[in-house]
Amino acid sequence: MEPLKGLILSGGAGTRLRPITHTSAKQLVPVANKPVLFYGIEALVDAGVTEIGIIIAPETGEEIRVAAGDGSQFGAEITYIVQDKPAGLAHAVLTAADFIGDSPFVMYLGDNLLRDGLRGLVATFLADEPEALILLTPVDDPSSYGVAELDGERIVRLIEKPKDPPSNLALVGVYLFSSSIFDAARGLEPSWRGEYEITEAIQALIDDGQRVQSEVVSGWWKDTGQLADMLEANRLVLEELQTRLEGEIDEESRVEGRVVLEPGASLVRSVVRGPAVIGAGAVIEDSYLGPYTSIGAEVQVRRAEIEHSIILSGSVVEDLGTRMEASLLGRNVKLTRSDGPPKTLRLLVGDSSEIEIV
Ligand code: TTP
Repeated sequence: MEPLKGLILSGGAGTRLRPITHTSAKQLVPVANKPVLFYGIEALVDAGVTEIGIIIAPETGEEIRVAAGDGSQFGAEITYIVQDKPAGLAHAVLTAADFIGDSPFVMYLGDNLLRDGLRGLVATFLADEPEALILLTPVDDPSSYGVAELDGERIVRLIEKPKDPPSNLALVGVYLFSSSIFDAARGLEPSWRGEYEITEAIQALIDDGQRVQSEVVSGWWKDTGQLADMLEANRLVLEELQTRLEGEIDEESRVEGRVVLEPGASLVRSVVRGPAVIGAGAVIEDSYLGPYTSIGAEVQVRRAEIEHSIILSGSVVEDLGTRMEASLLGRNVKLTRSDGPPKTLRLLVGDSSEIEIV
């Protein structure tokens, strides 16, 4: 078999993560201060897949190119492939036809995180040589996912969002394909939502009598396409954090549990209860940072309490007077209290923002 290539899908519309995705690619939102996309690239490289194509959208592609570069920082060689519109996962595969050629490949959704990486899956694919190998995970609400009907490890049928699910095993955003997926994808019509669906392409392989195998994921898997999942991914990754304190901690501050304090970050009269990560140059003054919090580089927090949240670089949070939790702040957000009359809000908020006063 030819060496496996990697194909990471980092285009898409990202409607469920607006307004962050108005100005930035969701695959670059940091989880534990590292862009989601980087976890995928690293997982591929770790499994020996270094020739990687990244599907990008015209709007957010440039930012992804700048962040991941030529791939040398990961020990990979990255080729960027522009998908002119987010017409579905099977459309993305077809867009990459020239890059993939006749090679088998791993397709990885750029907003997904897999705790245990791809090594085992790649080994199974190379040993068994099926036409497709897909990854499944048990879920509580199968009717919100693409669900597999199985005969042993062999897939009999894939059903999108079934009313009457045949199993609780949902498709995870990682797929291994031989190049036979291209013919299957070329034969598709757009689905009811106007997209070329990868599940339908895989179903076409099954209907054609080709071998489509599955494996149930070990460890956790997270799709970070919406806020609650992004925060949960942040929690899961921080759960495995190792303490590294390279910033400054004054005598009146306290660090409890596992915390990363990057160089140039400072804690002044503050308490940080890990797991939490604080980026380079951030300043935390007279504040409390609770578990599962990721503070980006150059963020300033003064007289505030923050827990279970992600704050992107350059933001300022001051004098909240109430605890902030389960929140995601974009870059350079300013959240402060001013001297106006009490119980008054004064806001300058962009399109599709979400603010909940509790
Ligand atoms: P989704 O999260 O399913 O789709 P989306 O990014 O359009 O988001 P939303 O539903 O909130 O509007 O996409 C999964 C991954 O695949 C994600 O990293 C984006 C990528 N993708 C593409 O690269 N091209 C596409 O045509 C689609 C639909 C998704």
